[in-house]
Amino acid sequence: MKPLPVLLLLSGVLLCHTGPVLDPVTCDGNDGPGAAHTAMHHIDETHNHGYKFRLNDITSTKVEQVEGGCNWELQLALLETRCSVVNPKQFENCDIRAEHERAVMANCTVMMTVKKGESKVTKYNCNTRQAKTNQEMVRICPDCPVLLPLNNTEGLKSVDQALKTFNQNTTNQHYYILQEVGRIQTSYMFQMGMGYFAEFVLLETRCPRGSRIVLEACKPLCPDRAHRAFCRSSYTTANEAISVECELYSPTNTTALGPGEQEPVCKPPHDGGRGPPPHAGGGGPPPHAHGQGPPPHDGSGGPPHDHGKGRESGKGRGPPFNPHFPRGSFHACRGFLVNPDPALHPICPWPLPEPRSQPRES
Ligand SMILES: *[C@@H]1O[C@H](CO)[C@@H](O)[C@H](O)[C@H]1NC(C)=O
Ligand SMILES: *[C@@H]1O[C@H](CO)[C@@H](O)[C@H](O)[C@H]1NC(C)=O
Ligand SMILES: *[C@@H]1O[C@H](CO)[C@@H](O)[C@H](O)[C@H]1NC(C)=O
Ligand SMILES: *[C@@H]1O[C@H](CO)[C@@H](O)[C@H](O)[C@H]1NC(C)=O
Repeated sequence: MKPLPVLLLLSGVLLCHTGPVLDPVTCDGNDGPGAAHTAMHHIDETHNHGYKFRLNDITSTKVEQVEGGCNWELQLALLETRCSVVNPKQFENCDIRAEHERAVMANCTVMMTVKKGESKVTKYNCNTRQAKTNQEMVRICPDCPVLLPLNNTEGLKSVDQALKTFNQNTTNQHYYILQEVGRIQTSYMFQMGMGYFAEFVLLETRCPRGSRIVLEACKPLCPDRAHRAFCRSSYTTANEAISVECELYSPTNTTALGPGEQEPVCKPPHDGGRGPPPHAGGGGPPPHAHGQGPPPHDGSGGPPHDHGKGRESGKGRGPPFNPHFPRGSFHACRGFLVNPDPALHPICPWPLPEPRSQPRES
């Protein structure tokens, strides 16, 4: 009988710490891997659009001893995974994209301070790009699809078609709207014309499926109560055939509404008072919590223990809903990047610099 209470206690402890327990970073120059590991977790917590990334290589580490601690500067090489940021999986468990799927890499510089045994990422900046250019890919794999800009008209048409198809599925309780387009690929297919292959995230709305309503008028459910769907679609122009397959992710709050109880009206996500102008780049998810404030939080009831390190639930849900029907999912941080690739979701600089009066495009 004795071991049982111990086991129960243990599982209780595990449940309270869904996020990984990170070893504290020291000021020992050999602790580069530990520092990189901590940095990677911080990037994963703050990167809230597109796809999750994983550490591929530690390019260089520098540690500078200062009064009471040290400063780390890390150069990290990351690779994009197949997991959308709304996927509840830990980034470590996500698969890296293969080269023929148009792999994406990010070269990041991360600054971290260690003081009194506490480590804190103070800043990071990444350069996100396709691992191989189109010219390089043509030589390696002439038939591989190429990535299209996320605002490509034909590509977005295929996404709209896929969304309509998804919304016809009678299994769904509500209609869904587009939250974000992750990537769009295209290639010519013999006798089928052009093929468009898209990946995108859908967000559950308050509109009951079957109601006669314009989809654009449907408001999303609160971030903690909405299902998300991560979908892959393919569309071929010759026969106008669309196919779509989606994975559904459950909301964090699955408490059923009581009899007669209305879906809650959710507070808008808080922004900490700064962030880029909402229209920079056109129609990306609204910026939120990129400032120095607490990590992104949907303001509507994640589990109470989710503060800082106890991650998992506050994030992993992706950005809060987009009040506009997104046309291409360009993230607002593009205005701060030099030559962002329009086909990719970059890792945005953190914290975001003060908005410029004239955000630079392309
Ligand atoms: C990554 O960026 C750093 C700093 O910008 C640069 O020195 C380094 O050469 C880059 N590495 C790669 C592989 O692009
Ligand atoms: C896509 O976005 C780029 C950069 O903002 C813009 O120059 C281009 O006209 C847009 N294309 C379409 C089809 O909207
Ligand atoms: C409808 O949705 C369910 C659950 O997500 C899925 O299993 C099923 O394949 C979908 N049906 C069609 C026709 O797409
Ligand atoms: C879940 O949603 C219901 C309905 O809005 C709300 O009453 C309840 O407090 C929420 N639970 C949590 C843990 O946020």
